[in-house]
Amino acid sequence: MIECQIFAIGIALSMESYSLNIVHWGSDHADLVEQIVKKVKSWRLTVIRSADQRLPIAEEASVLVVDSDHQGQRIAKKYAAQLVLLPAGTQSPRPYNARVEYLQMPITGWQIAHALHRLGHSLAVQTELDRLHRSVQQQNQEMTELNKIGIALSAERDADVLLEMILNKAREITTADAGSLYLIEKNNNIKTTENDYWADKQLRFKLAHNDSINSSYREFVMPVKKSSMAGYTAITGKPLNIPDAYNLPRNSQIQHNKSFDEKMGYRTQSVLCLPMKSHRGEMIGVLQLINRKTSAAAKLADPSGFQRHVLPFDQRSVEMASSLASQAAVSIENMKLYEEIKGLFEGFIVASVHAIEQRDPTTFGHSQRVAELSLGLAQKIDQISVGRFRDVHFSRDDLQQIKYAGLLHDFGKIGVRESVLVKAKKLYPEQIDMIKYRFQFIRQALELNTARKKMQMLLKKSPEQVAKEFSRLDRFLQEKMMEVDNDLRFILETNEPRLLDSEGFERLSELRNLTYRDNGSVNPYLTEQEFKFLSIRRGSLGEEERLEIESHVTHTFNFLKRIPWSSNLKNVPEIAHAHHEKLDGTGYPRGLKDEQIPLPSKIMAIADIYDALTAWDRPYKKAVEESRALEILGYEVKDGKLDADLLDVFVQAEVYKQVARPEKA
Ligand SMILES: [Fe+2]
Ligand SMILES: [Fe+2]
Repeated sequence: MIECQIFAIGIALSMESYSLNIVHWGSDHADLVEQIVKKVKSWRLTVIRSADQRLPIAEEASVLVVDSDHQGQRIAKKYAAQLVLLPAGTQSPRPYNARVEYLQMPITGWQIAHALHRLGHSLAVQTELDRLHRSVQQQNQEMTELNKIGIALSAERDADVLLEMILNKAREITTADAGSLYLIEKNNNIKTTENDYWADKQLRFKLAHNDSINSSYREFVMPVKKSSMAGYTAITGKPLNIPDAYNLPRNSQIQHNKSFDEKMGYRTQSVLCLPMKSHRGEMIGVLQLINRKTSAAAKLADPSGFQRHVLPFDQRSVEMASSLASQAAVSIENMKLYEEIKGLFEGFIVASVHAIEQRDPTTFGHSQRVAELSLGLAQKIDQISVGRFRDVHFSRDDLQQIKYAGLLHDFGKIGVRESVLVKAKKLYPEQIDMIKYRFQFIRQALELNTARKKMQMLLKKSPEQVAKEFSRLDRFLQEKMMEVDNDLRFILETNEPRLLDSEGFERLSELRNLTYRDNGSVNPYLTEQEFKFLSIRRGSLGEEERLEIESHVTHTFNFLKRIPWSSNLKNVPEIAHAHHEKLDGTGYPRGLKDEQIPLPSKIMAIADIYDALTAWDRPYKKAVEESRALEILGYEVKDGKLDADLLDVFVQAEVYKQVARPEKA
């Protein structure tokens, strides 16, 4: 009867597809349970007959069948479900959870089979739910990871860092041993044809990583052809997943170039190539991942290592890496746009500065050189790990700000009159011309006057007297003419932007009081304005002109603050505004003191003075040698005007050698 029953149960349950582990712990009904379980192929039974024997650790979801004396929550917790067989006449306790069943003697095979079936089915459902739950959790984790990568990629503005990051992250999430990154670009040597999109394109091998071998690489370009893996991916626009590059299908268009492997003792086995498309669907690059490994730490050092650790790229890798490739493409496109805008902006700045500097050819190239010197000094300071500059660091944005501020620091010269800007002598050229004409007139007036006097004598005096007077008049005229010539010569000498001593000033004051007659009116040798300019003690500029030149800083600031700088460049106006300030407060325009002056402005002050001193010869001033310029900067430091530590770095690190000096005119 039992045999027949068990057979029937076997038939009835053999259709069940779920597998079930059953552990029977006890002695009373072991045979019966064993006979039932044996009839169902997908069920496995472990029997523990002795109460002393320990229960095996349940690794998979299992049903524990126990006699009543073995039951208990402690045991049940280890197993996902429990079937308790109770002696006849025992009160069935209420199950303490859904996966506990009680059967009371006498028990038929059907009852046991159905109880096991119910528990097994419930376990199978639970197992599937758990699997789904884990899968959702894993997807969430992957999504979070991809999001994090996406954010990091979108924040990166440096092209090289961005590409490195893309390849690194792609290898990380797929545990790929190696990888390469290609960018698609236009080949300008080939004419664009309408019917072949790829004819004028090429793949630039931009970057390569390999965890197992140290190999240097260099950029190269190759045509976009279906015979290469990267080319095939670019043309088809679809992921290319090759489990073993050494076993390509016979009819495959793709050829595996083994030269790298042969040269480096490597084996490019599993390959995953992913297209990188812009949001407009334009192909911009290909991401190639090589040799997915059992773990990121595995080293592929010898043939057995490749055999043990290299796996084909699975569906999850394809999905994850594809998603990353899409994000990477957007970031690369953004970065390109950013670079283009930056290039456009910088081009505009350089062109504007060029136009302004053309107003004063003697300072041509000054702004560019000040930008380069300031940048050079800032970079050196950034590298210093001891002393005062230990904690001073300049980010990429900081350096960008210094560069722009350097290029634009004298932009405000646009607001200074050109005649003042290029004024080389104390008087303007038209003033000196006027003085020369005036002295010419004075000479002629003297000659005329003498001639007139001679005429009168001819009419009034005897020939003897005339001869005597004439020679006296001629001597007088000659003396006067010499005086006038000397005066003019003195004025021309005083016009040079040299130091005017007190003797010179006295003579100038005397000249100011001299007059000549013109048509009855009495005029001074020098106008008030001419006297004022010629009295300039040093250089070529009067007080008002000096203030006008100095106003360039305020013009620069007013101009720069009108530009809607992005937040990372917002300090450009302030840096430029303080480039003529001195530590002791004697600078302009605001007379700021040491702690009020931004460090980049202090850097720029050194670069600015150095370049102004060493720039090419001016009509009134010789360019000074490098060593002399550094000496003069040293005096400025001693006078408490420039930062001593900054000058020290400028000199020690030979920053001043970083720019090409202009050709001597
Ligand atoms: Fe300036
Ligand atoms: Fe300057």
